[in-house]
Formats: sequence, structure tokens, C-alpha cells
Amino acid sequence: MRPVIDGSRLSDQLEALAEFSDPASPRITRIVFTPPDLKARQWLKQLCGNAGLVVREDPVGNTFARWPGADELAPAVATGSHIDAIPNSGRYDGTVGVLGGLEAIRALKESDFRPKRAIELVLFTSEEPTRFGLGCLGSRLLAGALSPGDAARMQDNAGTSLDAVRAAAGFEGELRNVRLPGGHYHAFIELHIEQGALLEKQGIAIGVVTSIAAPASLRLTLRGEGGHAGTVLMNDRHDALLGASEIALAAEKAALSTGAADSVATTGVCEVFPGAINGIPSAVRLELDIRDTDLNRRDRMIGSIGASCGEVARRRGLEIRTEVLNADAPAHCDPIVMDAIVRACQTSERTFTHLVSRAYHDALFLSRIAPAGMIFIPCRGGVSHLPEEYASPTDIEAGVTVLAHALAELAG
Ligand code: GLV
Ligand code: MN
Ligand code: MN
Repeated sequence: MRPVIDGSRLSDQLEALAEFSDPASPRITRIVFTPPDLKARQWLKQLCGNAGLVVREDPVGNTFARWPGADELAPAVATGSHIDAIPNSGRYDGTVGVLGGLEAIRALKESDFRPKRAIELVLFTSEEPTRFGLGCLGSRLLAGALSPGDAARMQDNAGTSLDAVRAAAGFEGELRNVRLPGGHYHAFIELHIEQGALLEKQGIAIGVVTSIAAPASLRLTLRGEGGHAGTVLMNDRHDALLGASEIALAAEKAALSTGAADSVATTGVCEVFPGAINGIPSAVRLELDIRDTDLNRRDRMIGSIGASCGEVARRRGLEIRTEVLNADAPAHCDPIVMDAIVRACQTSERTFTHLVSRAYHDALFLSRIAPAGMIFIPCRGGVSHLPEEYASPTDIEAGVTVLAHALAELAG
């Protein structure tokens, strides 16, 4: 069995997918269930149908394209990722795992290989937190890491419920039917760009991921007192933005002071009310992203940020409400999957190294219901979540080749 990847077909399809983007925004912007996402999904389903795969969608829009195996009672081997993209981002994050997964399956089909287990490509809904404030929405529900009740209470950033948004996108049915039981999949592999520069710096083709860092996010609502920017004297103010600024700096300090390079904290959202140049900010909404490969260290950062909130609130006379949007444990990749990836690198003569993923991925949640692993490929300068994101056709082809071999081994 020698799967031959059609690199130019894959490059063309990555380019075609990049066309599905919000025209009003700098490229790439593809928010879940907006017209570009829905059009891209239709296009992708057509590609899967053309490849002879059987397509099914669940009530939250997770999409499964199945190549049936000789033993349809045996749990399938799955691969996949996401196609939603944060505002003003790049064309490779997630998409390489979806279109690369499809290309791996096509290449296996075009070789003499016939799998014992089915091989399933999965497109996960809303890996990015842009619209609903929670990353990995589809894979969380699928793995039972988010309850259907909590999901039903979720709203997008315009205040529309998840149920209304998914119904408008054509996805109905009970959210409890999204969950898949442990044992449903024999194994899961996600192919992804590294989003860091380690592989590029070392000139290595493939990263075999060993674990995925523990992500958490907080929403802080600060309430102070508004007023006239000219007439309220400085000592009489309770400026919510100044409190928020101190908290953003405290988050930076919390990450820096662990002494570990794996500790990171980012204040990526800051909405100021009323947002007028001559009005003292009376309220601010902050959203913070806090991650570490070590769960205890990550939780100590959250504790330290919480303590800063208390201190800032008292000193500045503010009210600060804290919501933990998510605080997930890290994932450890399964030796069965990592070993299959290593053997696939050896068979296809690609250099490899083991590394951790500091970004989160749908594999974080799939690992809760199946042996899971990830294949990383280099991306230029480690740049991601920016329009300059780039992975070369050669590197992508190497990743897809390794994926195809690993899928073939695991599917038997
Ligand atoms: C995924 O996009 C992440 O933020 O790690
Ligand atoms: Mn991303
Ligand atoms: Mn991604």
C-alpha cells in the first residue's frame, strides 16, 4: 500500500476554501454559521460525496464523511479538524486537517488499500470561540465535556441563543444526540499546522504531539461610575477601564512570574462602555485566555488574577464579576496513536520529533472518548491567527502522507 497524495489537488482545494470568507473583513474571516461558513460546508460536503464518502450531520453541525470498512461493526478510525476562522486570520489553521484528511482518504482509496475499520473524516463545529465565547463547541458536545443543558443556555455575541443560531443554519434536533459514547472511535488523529516555530527552526518535517496544554478563559465585567470627562475630578472617579487595565497587567505578571515558558495569559477582548471620548468608562467587559501545560500552574495563575481583581475592586471602588467560561484539563496523546504516527514517519521517510501543543484543538476533547493524537507540520515563522499564516505545499503533503499511513495502520 503506497498512498500517493495529489498535492496540487489539495493546494487547489485549500485555495478554493480560502475564498469562503467574510468579504467585509480582512482575510480570512469565517465565523461559524455565517454565510461563508455555511457555503464552505456545502462545498466540502460535495467534495466528500464526490470522493464516495457517506455524509451525516449532527444537531450542532458536526459533519462526518465515512468510508465504510469491511467490518462495519468495528469502531471507526477518525480524522478531522475545523474550518471556522477567527477574524483577520489565515487559511491553514484547521483547514489543513479537514482537506488534508479528505486527501489522505482519497489517496488510500486510490491505492489498493481496503480498510477493515471505517475511516471517518470529521468537520467539527466552532473550534474557535469567536461567536459563542467557547472554543471547541462541537467536539466538547460530542465528547460530553459540555452538557446539552449548558449548551442550550449559550448565546452568541449578539445575544441570539445557540438553538436559534443553529436552527437558522439548518441544524435541528436535540443537542443530547450529539454525544458519542466512549468506544465509538477506535482512534482519532488530527493533522494541524504547528502554530509555533519549533519544527521550522529545527528543519523537521513532522511533529508528533505528546500533550495539549490546558486552556481556560475568563469573562470579567467591571462596573464603576461614568461621568463627564471634563468635570469629574480625578480623585472622585471610579473608572472601570483603569481597573481593567490593571487587571490585564496583573494577568501578564501572573504568567511571567511562574518562571515557566509554557505559562501564557492574554487579554484579547476589552469592550468599554459607553465608549465615548468625553465619557468616563462606567463598565468594561474583559475576556482573558490563560493556558499552561501544567494544570496546577494554570490554576494558580487564575487564582492570582482573581486576587488582583479583588484588590483592584476594593482600591478603585469597582464591582467586578468573574465568570469562568472554561477551565479544561490538558490532554495526553495515546501511545497507540503516537506510535502509529512514528511508524508512518519511518515508512514514508519523514523526519519527526515529539512536542507539546500549546494551542488547543478538537483533539483535546476527542481524547476523552478515544485514543487520540496529533500530527503537526511546520508553518512559516510559527505565525498563526494572522493573514500571513503559511504552510508550504511540500510540508502539507508530508503531513498528509504521514496521516494516510497512520490511518491505514489503525484501520487495519
Ligand atoms: C485555537 O484556535 C486556540 O486558540 O488554541
Ligand atoms: Mn485557531
Ligand atoms: Mn485550529
